[in-house]
Amino acid sequence: MKTSSAEDVRKLYEDSADSYDKMMDSEINLPVYEDILTRLAEKISGLQGAVIDTSCGSGHMLYQYHKRYDPMRPLIGIDLSPKMVAISRKKLGKNTKIFAADMRELDDIPAESSAAVISFFALHHLEPKEIGVALKEWCRVLRPKGQLNIATWEGSGPIDYGDESDVVALRYSQQEVTELVEKNGFKIDRLVVKPDAEIPMNAIYLEGTKQ
Ligand SMILES: C[S@@+](CC[C@H](N)C(=O)[O-])C[C@H]1O[C@@H](n2cnc3c(N)ncnc32)[C@H](O)[C@@H]1O
Repeated sequence: MKTSSAEDVRKLYEDSADSYDKMMDSEINLPVYEDILTRLAEKISGLQGAVIDTSCGSGHMLYQYHKRYDPMRPLIGIDLSPKMVAISRKKLGKNTKIFAADMRELDDIPAESSAAVISFFALHHLEPKEIGVALKEWCRVLRPKGQLNIATWEGSGPIDYGDESDVVALRYSQQEVTELVEKNGFKIDRLVVKPDAEIPMNAIYLEGTKQ
């Protein structure tokens, strides 16, 4: 089964950006995020360069990271949806670079310039080959020992959006995600699968290091 085009995915998030932003206001306080962001700040404490969120959505992850864990760190936010980009810019202010782009092509970011790449709940919009393209690009922009943080939906087959959308997005098994990450320049340091607090699906949380 093929995932929906970038155009259809963009439209989905353009239409739902405001409600997504509101939903994330409470979601971001879940312990799982605190855990991940605390560890990320510790791991990159000796590494210069930006934290890049390659699908920043409403900007909550970057904002929380900046506010609670690493206020001096430069941040870059990228998203396919201009509306999500506008919401993130409002939250993060002028000192953060936020722009509309595709996570597979980070042309404006120099090679080996960044400390970490995070990608939360967006890889389900890509087919495996394209996930490989994105991971290679993230590897390019990271410094040696740069950190990778991924969260993605676990399982197989399409995600059921019910009446909300007919966009086709895919879940991936732990093995598929592991293979893709390891094939494209990263060593996996931690991988856990947890049931989501709200939705009847499991999420894979993966932390890796650029090799
Ligand atoms: C479910 S939201 C997750 C947002 C944010 N990472 C979070 O966890 O709150 C998925 C986001 O991925 C973005 N997205 C989907 N495909 C993308 C692509 N190819 N490049 C960049 N962003 C993409 C969407 O526009 C949307 O904002």
